Amino acid sequence: MVNSLSQRQVLDAIDTEWLGQNCTYYPVVQSTNVILREMADRGEPAGTLVIADYQHKGKGRLGRRWLAPYGTSLLFSLLFRPDWPAEQANWLMMISALSCIRAISTTTGVITGIKWPNDIGLEKHGYWSKLGGILLEGNLTGDRFSLAVIGIGLNTNIVEQQLPKGYTPATSLLVETGKPVPRIGLLKEIVKNLERLYTQAESGHSPYKEWKELLVGLNKTVKVSDPYNNRIVEGFAEGTDPTGRLLVRESNGKLHHFSAGDVSLRS
Ligand code: BTN
Repeated sequence: MVNSLSQRQVLDAIDTEWLGQNCTYYPVVQSTNVILREMADRGEPAGTLVIADYQHKGKGRLGRRWLAPYGTSLLFSLLFRPDWPAEQANWLMMISALSCIRAISTTTGVITGIKWPNDIGLEKHGYWSKLGGILLEGNLTGDRFSLAVIGIGLNTNIVEQQLPKGYTPATSLLVETGKPVPRIGLLKEIVKNLERLYTQAESGHSPYKEWKELLVGLNKTVKVSDPYNNRIVEGFAEGTDPTGRLLVRESNGKLHHFSAGDVSLRS
């Protein structure tokens, strides 16, 4: 049986003040991020939510595709108009990850972490398994971070055989818990957490400390693929800085500050 969401279900579930109140559900879209970006350009307000059961051109980070069979995942995007200093742009990524991790724990009991920069997942038998990801697409106006579309994809009810066979091993909440997860309850929790954390960030509270506590893979030797310079850097992941950059020191002592990339443990 195909399990679809509906506009009514989403509207009834969201119990926030503003985040997600202006919402549109689509059974099928190209990408919720793309649709929401178009809506933002037409003047839709901060807090607008677009959610779909299927994306035929779902976008992942670094130009990758995001794949999920119909009705098996949480696929949604939220619009923010922050007017924050540019160096705080990653706060949105941090509070989104925190919201997902807390909501997953409350709704399913599954404890997850963050693999820099924004993978949500868990370590299984010593290997990282990805449960979801966050795609932040934003605009700067001068030196202000003025518009952001946050896209969240979480593998909720994908059966093992249908998990994406991508660059990193994947898992789903169904696989982890052995039972289907009500997507709408999870959405409700994520949006509620995110509204609260966004309000705190608006008043200047940095989410950095809480975000950092959930990072996995620090204080280890890693390989980072650097998309801007088309190279791989191997070194010791010393930590992160308050803007969310990853600090990796090569054996020759050189310290790199990564603002994007993929991390893998040294083989
Ligand atoms: C990543 O590469 O880890 C980020 C994946 C983000 C996927 C979500 S699914 C909903 C939203 N719409 C998109 O096209 N992408 C994001």
